[in-house]
Amino acid sequence: MPTIRDLAAAKAGGRKIVMVTAYDASAARLLAGTEVDCLLVGDSAMMVVHGQRDTLGATVELMAMHTRAVVRGAPGKLIVTDFPFLAARKGIAPALDAAAELLRAGAHAVKIEGVRGHANVIRHLIESGIPVMGHLGLQPQSVHTLGGYTVQGRDPVEAQRLHEDAAELQALGVFALVLECVPQKLARNVTAELQIPTIGIGAGAGCDGQVLVWHDLLGLNPDFKPKFVRPFADGATVLREGINRFVTAVRAGKFPTNKESFS
Ligand code: KIV
Ligand code: NA
Repeated sequence: MPTIRDLAAAKAGGRKIVMVTAYDASAARLLAGTEVDCLLVGDSAMMVVHGQRDTLGATVELMAMHTRAVVRGAPGKLIVTDFPFLAARKGIAPALDAAAELLRAGAHAVKIEGVRGHANVIRHLIESGIPVMGHLGLQPQSVHTLGGYTVQGRDPVEAQRLHEDAAELQALGVFALVLECVPQKLARNVTAELQIPTIGIGAGAGCDGQVLVWHDLLGLNPDFKPKFVRPFADGATVLREGINRFVTAVRAGKFPTNKESFS
């Protein structure tokens, strides 16, 4: 069984970590047959699956539902599930309930945005045997404070704060740290200062690993083209062409054939 120790071993061995988001069993089954190290049931589900403008609509129940689907599709993979909006901010007992629901759904670990004001919650979860992945830089659950999905840590005060928060998360015992949308030099420096692996998205090549959202990685959402996304397949074209071949075949009376019909 894959464990969080595999990620530490990857950093120690200088091997890059690869994480991909997953939200359903069919995508998870595909990922199960790849060498991807870790699946993230991200609250980005709210945007890429549910069509909302931000991640704030995610609930523990919804994240647990997506987690159960992903676990069924990829029972052999390491699975991390996002703590949804405010789940880490209501104190220790509600956070334990949330973690219990997500781990009972099959997640091996949870990912929590930020640290200031909920370090005690993160510490208590970790002391309770729940592995926690940190998430600094752009924290999409704070989009309304940030005023948009923008690069974080550009000014020296923000950069210093990122260094401090990363060190604090490591001291609390998080097993890995996502760095989202920060200048590559900052991400590289933070990575060098930490023993735990960093996993970047929009954070340059200096991180110990990279994560991409399923739809972005596969070009399923070609209208969304931030600087840090590279579509590694033209999924939208492949799928649209397949659908159009179906339409054409049906209209031409070429689907289904006798072979595809019951006698
Ligand atoms: O929800 C998500 O997909 C994430 C990744 C972008 C790190 O948190
Ligand atoms: Na997320």
